[in-house]
Amino acid sequence: MKVNKSIIRSTTFCLVTLFILGCNSEKNSKISIEESYASKVDSIIQLMTIEEKLGQLNLPTDGDITTGTSKSSDVAKQIEEGKVGGLFNVKSVEKIREIQTIAVQQSRLGIPLLFGMDVIHGYKSTFPIPLALSSSWNMELIEKAARISAQEASASGINWTFSPMVDISRDPRWGRVSEGNGEDTHLAGKIAKAMVKGYQGEDLAANNTVMACVKHFALYGAPEAGKEYNTVDMSRIRMYNEYLPPYKAAIEAGVGSVMSSFNEVDGVPATGNKWLLTDLLREEWGFDGFVVTDYTAIEEMQYHGVGNFHEVSAQALKAGTDLDMVSEGFLKTLKKSHEDGVVKMKDIDKAVARILTAKFQLGLFDDPYKYCDLNRAKSEVYTSENRDMARRVATESMVLLKNEDQLLPLKKSGTIAVIGPLAVASNNMAGTWSVATDQEKSISVFEGLQQTVGDRVTILHAKGSNLDYDLELEKRATLFGKTITRDGRTDKQLLDEALRVASQADVIVATLGESAEFSGESSSRTNLGIPQVQKDLLKALLETGKPVVLVLFAGRPLTLVEENDTVPAILNVWFPGSEAGFAISDVLFGDVNPSGKLTMTFPRNVGQIPIYYNHKNTGRPLNNSEGKFEKYKSNYLDVRNEPLYPFGYGLSYTTFEYSNLKIDKTSIGMDEEINVSVDVKNTGNYDGKEIVQLYIRDVVASVTRPVKELKGFQKILIKKDETKTVNFTISAEDLKFYNYNLDFVIEPGDFEVFVGENSNTNLKTSFRLTSRN
Ligand code: BGC
Repeated sequence: MKVNKSIIRSTTFCLVTLFILGCNSEKNSKISIEESYASKVDSIIQLMTIEEKLGQLNLPTDGDITTGTSKSSDVAKQIEEGKVGGLFNVKSVEKIREIQTIAVQQSRLGIPLLFGMDVIHGYKSTFPIPLALSSSWNMELIEKAARISAQEASASGINWTFSPMVDISRDPRWGRVSEGNGEDTHLAGKIAKAMVKGYQGEDLAANNTVMACVKHFALYGAPEAGKEYNTVDMSRIRMYNEYLPPYKAAIEAGVGSVMSSFNEVDGVPATGNKWLLTDLLREEWGFDGFVVTDYTAIEEMQYHGVGNFHEVSAQALKAGTDLDMVSEGFLKTLKKSHEDGVVKMKDIDKAVARILTAKFQLGLFDDPYKYCDLNRAKSEVYTSENRDMARRVATESMVLLKNEDQLLPLKKSGTIAVIGPLAVASNNMAGTWSVATDQEKSISVFEGLQQTVGDRVTILHAKGSNLDYDLELEKRATLFGKTITRDGRTDKQLLDEALRVASQADVIVATLGESAEFSGESSSRTNLGIPQVQKDLLKALLETGKPVVLVLFAGRPLTLVEENDTVPAILNVWFPGSEAGFAISDVLFGDVNPSGKLTMTFPRNVGQIPIYYNHKNTGRPLNNSEGKFEKYKSNYLDVRNEPLYPFGYGLSYTTFEYSNLKIDKTSIGMDEEINVSVDVKNTGNYDGKEIVQLYIRDVVASVTRPVKELKGFQKILIKKDETKTVNFTISAEDLKFYNYNLDFVIEPGDFEVFVGENSNTNLKTSFRLTSRN
C-alpha cells in the first residue's frame, strides 16, 4: 500500500475535529482513555502494514546508554522505515528534534515518536536519589521535585520518564534500593501518587508535563539473596498485602505506562506473565495505558528458559506487553508468528492502539515538536530557582543518625578539615541514575563549604584514602564517568597527609562511604560496611582526639555498628544531587535543621537481612526489650534482634517529647472513624520539623498480621518550646487487608495504635472494631 505524507496529514487533520469530540467525551469518567481515542487510533491502524504496526511496538535506544548486553542497531534507517515507536535516553533537544523530523517527514505514515528517559531524580537540576527523597517524608516536596524534573525534561525533548520506581525492598544488599522508596508499603504508595502527579500534572498534553512509567512490575525488589536480577519467589498473600499496593497506587493516580520487571513471578518471567500483565493489571486494577518491557527483557526470557526468541516474543505480546525495549523480538518475529497462527492480528492491533493512544494523550499528533522548543531548553533547565529547590529538598532528605553532646551544628568559625575520598568528588554527588546531570558541575562538599562559609571558616582538605583497598572493586563502583581518580600514593602517604591536615583543624569532617555506583543497578553487595580503607582512615582520624563528624554517602542502609560506637556525629547524606555541597553545608552549620527519617531499616550486620519493622510475630517471639538471648525463641545466638537504626528513625538538632496520646472512641463500627491525637513538644534549642508516625497492629485476624504497620504520618514544623497537637483519623478502610482468599476485607476485632518518632515507639492506645454499621 502506498500512502504518502499528505494522507496521514489529512488523517491527522480530520482527527483534530474528532479530538474535540474526544476531549468532551473524556469528561465522562466512565469512558476509558483507550475508548476516548479509539476512533482516531483505529483510523490510523487501518492505514498500517504489519511491519509498521510492529514498528510502533519497537523501542530502541540511541546507544548512549546501555544497561543490557545488546545495543540497538541502525536506528535512523529503522525510523525511516516506520520500524520504531519511540527512543530513549537521547540527551539533546536538537538531536530529538532532528530524529522526530525523520519520523514525521521521512517515514511513510509520519507517526511521531515517543522520547523516553530515565529521569529518575531530576534532569539537570538533580534531586537526591529516590531512597533519600523518600526519607524526607514530605509529599509536597516530592511532588514538586517530580514537577521540576518533568519541566526540565520536557523542555529538553523528553515526553516520557521511566519513573517512579516503587519496588518495595527489605534487602539492602540489593543495589537498587537506592532507586526506591524503602521498605514500607503505605509510604511507598503515597510517594508513587505524588510522583505520578508531579510528572503528569493535570494535563498530559501540556508541553511541560511528561508521561510517567511505574516500574518494575512486579516484585523486582525481592531478589533472592539481594543479588541483582535474581529469582523472586513470593506468596500471593505477601504480594497483595505488602509488595503490590505501591504499583496499584500509581495506577490509581493515573500513571500512563507500566514497565514490566526482569524477574519471574510465580515461575513465569514478568514480561511474559499473563496473570500479572492482564488479569491483575488490566482486569483487576483497570489499567488502560501501555506496558513496556525492561531493557532486553523479552530476549532474556530465553535465558530464563521459557522458549526460543519467536516463542518468548509471542508469549510477551499475548501476556499483555505492548512495547519491546531493545530486544526487537516483536519487530523480528511477530510477523512470522502471525503467519503461523500463533499470534492474532487483534492482539497486535491492541498493543499498537495503546501506543498510538499514548501519543494522542501527549498531544504528539497535534504537534510532534511540542517538546522540542529550543528556547525552553535554554531558559527552563538548570535554573537557579530549580537548583534552589534541589538544594532544599536535599537538606530535607538527610538523616542525622547520631549527634553526641550536640557536636552538630558546627560553628561558623575556626578551621575545618574535610577529609575523605568523597570530599571533592563532584561527579559522584548526584548518585546513581542521573542520566542527564552534568556530573562535573555538581557541588562537592569541599566546594559547598568553601562557597557558603569559606569567608569565616578556614577549610582544609586531604583525600586520606582511596575508595577501597581493592582496585578492581573500586573500578566496578566508579563507572559511567563517576571515577574517583585513584591516587597513586601509598595508603600510608595518603593517611599521613590526612593526619597532617587534621592536626591543623578544630573539627574533622570525614566524607566517607559508598561511591555513586556502589549502589544502583547491578551493584549488589554482600558486605555492607564502609570500605575497609576508609574505616582505617576514620579510626586514625578519631585517634587524633579531635571532634569528628562523619558525613556518610550511601545508596543503601550500611552496617555501622562500629561507627555508631565510636564517632560522635553521623550525618547520612545519601547522594544529595547536583547541589550536594551546598545542602550539606546548610545542615552541618545549622542553617537547616535535619528532619529526614529512615525509610529502610539499618541492620547491625548482613546476617540480619532481610530485616524490616513490619514483620510478623511468629509463634515464638522474643519479648524481652533488652534483646537478651532466649533459647527456643525467635532470635540469634550472636546478634540481637533489633536493627541498629529502626525504620522511621532520624534525629534533629532539637528534641521532641510525645505525650497525651488520646483516642476519641474505644469502639467503632464499620462506617465510623476514630480520631487519635498526640501532643508533641519541642524541648530543645532549635525550631525543627518532626515526622509524627502512626502505626497500627491488628491483634487477631484470620491470617497472621504484622506486629506494626504504618498507617499515617505528618511532617510538621514545631518551634522551640512550642507544643503542637497532631491529629490522625483512622477509618475502617485503613484496617483492610487481603485475606487467605485474597479478598480485601475488614475483620472486626482489637487494634493497637502506636504513635511516635519512629517505628520503635511504645506510646500506645487501642480500640475495638465491631461489625455494627
Ligand atoms: C533498568 C530500567 C531502566 C531501563 C532503561 C534497565 O536496565 O532496569 O530501570 O528504565 O534500563 O534505561
